[in-house]
This record gives sequence, structure tokens and C-alpha cells, in this order.
Amino acid sequence: MRIEAVFQILAALAVAVTASPLSTITRHVVHERRSEPPPRWSRHTRLHPAATIPFRIGLAQQNLHRAEEFVNEVAHPDSPDYGKHWSKEKVADMFAPTTEAVSAVMEWLHASGIDPSRIKMSNSRNWLNFNATVAEAERLLRTEYHLYKHEMGHNHIACESYSVPHHLTDHIDIVTPTVHFDTRIGSTRKTIHHQNLPEPILELNRRMAKRDFSSRPLHGTLGSELDASNPKHGAEIKNALMTLENCDTMITPACLQALYNAPPNALSIPNNTLGVVEYTPQAFLQSDLDMFFKQFSPKQVGVSPNTNLIDGATIQTKNQSFSFNGESALDLQFAMSLIFPQKVTMYQVGDLVNGGSFNNFLDALDGSYCTFQGGDSKDPNIDGQYPDTLPGGFQGPENCGSVQTTNVISTSYSSNEADLTAKYEQRQCLEYMKLGLQGVSILYSSGDFGVAGNSGQCINPVTGAYNNGSTGLFNPSFPGTCPYITSVGATQILNGSTVHSPESASERVIFSGGGFSNVFPMPSYQKTAMATYFASHMPPYGADRFNNSQTVRGYPDVSANGVNYVVAVDGQFSLTFGTSASCPTFASLVNMINAQRIEARKSPVGFLNPTLYANPQVLHDITVGGNKGCGTKGFLSVQGWDPVTGLGTPNYPAMLDLFMGLP
Ligand SMILES: *[C@@H]1O[C@H](CO)[C@@H](O)[C@H](O)[C@H]1NC(C)=O
Ligand SMILES: *[C@@H]1O[C@H](CO)[C@@H](O)[C@H](O)[C@H]1NC(C)=O
Ligand SMILES: *[C@@H]1O[C@H](CO)[C@@H](O)[C@H](O)[C@H]1NC(C)=O
Ligand SMILES: *[C@@H]1O[C@H](CO)[C@@H](O)[C@H](O)[C@H]1NC(C)=O
Ligand SMILES: *[C@@H]1O[C@H](CO)[C@@H](O)[C@H](O)[C@H]1NC(C)=O
Ligand SMILES: *[C@@H]1O[C@H](CO)[C@@H](O)[C@H](O)[C@H]1NC(C)=O
Repeated sequence: MRIEAVFQILAALAVAVTASPLSTITRHVVHERRSEPPPRWSRHTRLHPAATIPFRIGLAQQNLHRAEEFVNEVAHPDSPDYGKHWSKEKVADMFAPTTEAVSAVMEWLHASGIDPSRIKMSNSRNWLNFNATVAEAERLLRTEYHLYKHEMGHNHIACESYSVPHHLTDHIDIVTPTVHFDTRIGSTRKTIHHQNLPEPILELNRRMAKRDFSSRPLHGTLGSELDASNPKHGAEIKNALMTLENCDTMITPACLQALYNAPPNALSIPNNTLGVVEYTPQAFLQSDLDMFFKQFSPKQVGVSPNTNLIDGATIQTKNQSFSFNGESALDLQFAMSLIFPQKVTMYQVGDLVNGGSFNNFLDALDGSYCTFQGGDSKDPNIDGQYPDTLPGGFQGPENCGSVQTTNVISTSYSSNEADLTAKYEQRQCLEYMKLGLQGVSILYSSGDFGVAGNSGQCINPVTGAYNNGSTGLFNPSFPGTCPYITSVGATQILNGSTVHSPESASERVIFSGGGFSNVFPMPSYQKTAMATYFASHMPPYGADRFNNSQTVRGYPDVSANGVNYVVAVDGQFSLTFGTSASCPTFASLVNMINAQRIEARKSPVGFLNPTLYANPQVLHDITVGGNKGCGTKGFLSVQGWDPVTGLGTPNYPAMLDLFMGLP
């Protein structure tokens, strides 16, 4: 060995030792890495070592591996603690990072030259915040920081990968800023026309295709006139018929009550309003509610929902068309009349500029989520950012834990699992789990495009891009695949049939969203149903279509009619289609069961799935129809659970008996 080489090694060692005395004894491992910047971003200059940046270390929650066990304790019918829901405080304490995790990370920072006096901990104990120079951070995380520039001119600080000590990997969830660009995965995906779709959907696709993803914030999508999870518009109706003979062509509240044996009058119980979520600019018009009530529920003329306006939400009246009013009109008219005289509490989310997302809504319900991951580490391309700095945006702070949760929450909006990152979805799903522990039932519509995603798009198995839906991987919906929500699919009354014959899976205008997750494992409550499904009705597709490992979450869980709803929109009755209709219908019945339980001094039912899967006999099994998409027939509705109509449609008296029989 030449003498210079020895000197070089010695010099390198000396540098390493002065830089970090721990480095020679602590093994670092790469915590997160990204291979290249996202599209439209490019790496610019190296940051100056003396520049100061605010850093945040997100600590991992504890006890997450026990989430399912905890949920089963309060939601499984065989559990002695059924219905003994947890307080907010108990939930926060159970999942907050351990003190050991906090001190281990603090010790590392201290030993690396960040004095504890510089570190501030968030109230939720989940974040350590400190300001550090680039030089300090680069040494701490074994990385190099660069400035990145977006084509549109935005700047962002990031690195390509970073490392943390081996013994801290389980304690640290995320460090920011690092590899995250907070950019929606799939933002370059394009919508392409699909010829076999009904005209309203074709029109939607044409408008989607014109959309410039780079210039328009994507979080404006939820609830916008372009949102493909909005209900689908059918023929206008001159004479809304009220007889049960016509339920195969026009669904009214009376049709649903007859189909599901639900009584026409619910109990009105204090604090048991039904939560219905709407995303701005979707909006209802009181004149439409009154037009509907006049026809179908005269006592309710003039009645409005209770209203929670979240993040500067307004119930806009400037833009009036089916694509701005259809969703809210459908949800509110049916939910309000099905549970009358009980009231609906509407959560209207997002201002007119920035819009809102599922996370904005969850933040408003839960202050600890707001300030924790999924809150502060939200994705600005999906979640509305408040205060809204855009012209005309809501200048106030975002709603953070200030809004009361109803016992049942119905949401008729959904995105594709592939629109979002797995990590983003897992965080949000855990929040549904926590709400379930607290006794809240969360229901989401399962999507209207069968095994395809919103707008009928499927996934190119090679590139991951969305295609025109003629082939490719099935495209499951989110939050439908989160195992801690109840996903509601759609059924129809066959042409010429009555409310007394079995329904089939919806095959008119819309196809019930259903399939298998690419993100979430199979929850324990689905094991038996899934084993039976695969043993008796193995679908004729391979892994080139869906995850057929038989180890992942299947959806939907249940279903309800979603075809031919008569809805008053903009002063006109018209037919409306969608799992958007099915979801509030199912949720209304759950609300009525809660009223009976509360009257009997029991708790609300909370998370439904463990009880329903253990008692499929309380649902009408749907065994006809399918959910075609991606150039296939999709899955078929069969005896038992299936990924089209789930366990089936409600048999209200049987469901009520079951839940009243539980503690
Ligand atoms: C970081 O510096 C900014 C600007 O001086 C300050 O407002 C903030 O409180 C500091 N953060 C911490 C955690 O000390
Ligand atoms: C959809 O894409 C496939 C494959 O690229 C193509 O063969 C087909 O013609 C397209 N269909 C429509 C309706 O655009
Ligand atoms: C309903 O909820 C509100 C707000 O939490 C509470 O103040 C009120 O006491 C509750 N009413 C009943 C009857 O439980
Ligand atoms: C909604 O209404 C506003 C104000 O009238 C108008 O500027 C805007 O173009 C409308 N948006 C759509 C999508 O029609
Ligand atoms: C249903 O039946 C009616 C009357 O028999 C017919 O006009 C209509 O086209 C049928 N609709 C469908 C979707 O088959
Ligand atoms: C299917 O899901 C399982 C369990 O999450 C996973 O291990 C497997 O890699 C997935 N298969 C495919 C083809 O993605």
C-alpha cells in the first residue's frame, strides 16, 4: 500500500469521527429512497451547508399490530366487550409512540449534536420538530440535500435517500423534508374514451381527458363536476310514480322500505343524526329537497339537514346542473326521508377554490389525526391546504378536531386505490379503524364501474398507467378496500320484477364496484366467506387481472339498490344511478338500528363488518348479475359473499333482531 493511500484512509476516518462520534459504532440503514424525481421535477443545485431548514421526525405509532384484535373486542358479536367503545383518550394513548421510542430518538439526536433544547414535541407526541442546518441534517441522515425545481417554477427541498440508525428504524416512521415530493402517484395518467359507456359517462370522460393535471390542483377533483364517483344521470321523469308496482323503473323511498322491510317511521333520538358527507362544489338546493318531499314525504317540506361547514365550505348555488347538484340531492333526499323524523347532519367539506378530501374531513373530526401523520404529512396535491393561499380561497385555519362525529357516516365519493400511495391509504385506513373503536360506522360507496376504476379505467400491468378500460388490471376503489370501513355495492330490481323478488347485481348504467385490494391484507372477519368464495366460485382470472393470492381484502361488504332512483335535481325529477345511492340507503337503516339500541340503553353498533360476516343470514344474498369491466365479465354474484354485491342487501327486521340481541 502506498503511503498516500494510508494517509487518505486515516484522514477519512478522522473526518468520520469528528463528524459523528456514534458513526463508528452505530450501523445506519437506508430508511426511504426514491430512484428519480417525479415527472416534471428536476434536480437543481446542492443546498448551502449553512442554510437552516425545519425538520420533522414522525415517530411510529405503537400497538398497530394489535389493531384488529382491538377492533374485534368491540365489534365482534362473540366478544364479551361488544359495544364497549373506546374514548378518544384511550385511542390516543394506545397508539401514541412509546416513551422508549421517544427517548431513543432523542438520544440519537443529542449524540449527533442536536441539543434537546432545540427539539419540540407535538402535543400528540408523534412529531419531533427542530431546526437544523443542511450540514447537520446531511450528517445526521447520511444524505445530500438538493433544491428541485418543477416545470411550473415551484421549488422543493429533497434528497434521494436517507439513513437512520439500525436500532431506530421501527421507531421512526418518516423524516421530512427528505424523499417525499408530496406528489400524487399517477399524475401523468390520462383518461381515454370508452365507447361502450353510456353518454353521461362518455361526456365525463371527454372532459376528464381535457383536464390538465399539471395546472389544476387534483384535490379539487373530489366533489367537482368531473368527479367520476358522482351518480349517473338517467332520463327525466314527468310523473314520479308512487306505486310499488313501478319500483323496477322508479325507485322511491317507499320502494326501498318495501324491498328491505324497513318501517316508514324511524325513532328520533338526540345525538343520533345520520352523517352524510358532501364535497364542495357539490351542493344541495332547498328547493329540490322541497320538491322531493312534496311528492314523497309531505311532512318534511321546508326541512333542511343540520349543517357542518368544514374548511371554509359553502353550499354554492352559482353552478346549477346535475353534475353540481346530483350527488347532494340524491344523498340528502333519500337519507332524510328514510330516517324521518330523525335528522341528517351534513358535513360539507372544502372551500370553492381548494376543495376538500377524505383527510380534510377526518382532520375536522379528530384533532390528533390533524396534527399527526396524514394530517401534517398530508399530500398537497390531494388534500386541501388551509389557510388557502389561492385567490378567493378560505383564509382561516383548517378545521382540526372541532367537529362532532355522528354514529354513522355515509360517503358517496370514492377514488381509485391506484390514485394514491399505499402509505397514504394505510394511514387514512388506520384513522377509520380508530373511529370504529370509538363506535362510529363508516360506509363508503364501492364505485360505479365494476372491476374497472372511476371513469371505467383499468391499469396497464407493465407501465401502471391507466388505459381506456378495454383490458388490463382491475382497478379497485379506495376507501372501499380499507378493511375498517363498510363498502356498499349496488343492486337493481330486474325489469318486470317487483319488490318481492330477489334483486340482481346492478347492470343498468352502472356496475357495482368490487374486487380485491392491492394494498390491504384480508381482515380476519372475511376469512370464512373468502375461503368459501374461492373454493366454490374460483374466478376465471389470473394474477394478470387481480391479486388472486386469496390473502387480500375483498370488497364490497354489502349492497343496496342503486338503480333508477327518482331524484329532484334543479327543479326536475330524473332517474339517478350509482353506489352513491346504495350507500346512504344502507347507512339509513344502520342509523335506525342505532336509534333502537340507544332507546334500549345500548351503545351504537359501530364497525359493522365482523358482526355482518358472522351473520350473513341477516342480508338477502344476491346471486344474479356481475360487475363487468376491463374487457371481462368481471366477477359474478354467487351464493354467499362475492366481490360484486358482498354479503347482499339488508333484511331490516333480521338485522335489527341481530343487533338488538347483542350487548
Ligand atoms: C424554527 O425556526 C422558525 C423561524 O425562526 C421558528 O418560527 C420555529 O419555531 C423554529 N422551530 C423550532 C422547532 O424551533
Ligand atoms: C382501447 O385501447 C385498446 C388498446 O390500446 C385499443 O385496441 C382499443 O381500440 C381502444 N378502444 C377504444 C374504444 O378506444
Ligand atoms: C348531544 O351532544 C352534545 C355535544 O356533544 C352534548 O352537549 C349534548 O349533551 C348531547 N345531548 C344528549 C341528549 O346526549
Ligand atoms: C361556476 O360558476 C362560476 C360563476 O358563475 C363560473 O365562473 C364558472 O365557470 C362555473 N363553473 C363551471 C364549471 O361551470
Ligand atoms: C324494461 O322494460 C320496459 C317495458 O317492458 C322496456 O321499455 C325497457 O326498455 C326495458 N328496459 C331495459 C333496460 O331492459
Ligand atoms: C398479492 O398480495 C400479497 C399479499 O399482500 C402479496 O404478497 C403479493 O405480492 C401480491 N401479488 C401481486 C401479484 O401483487
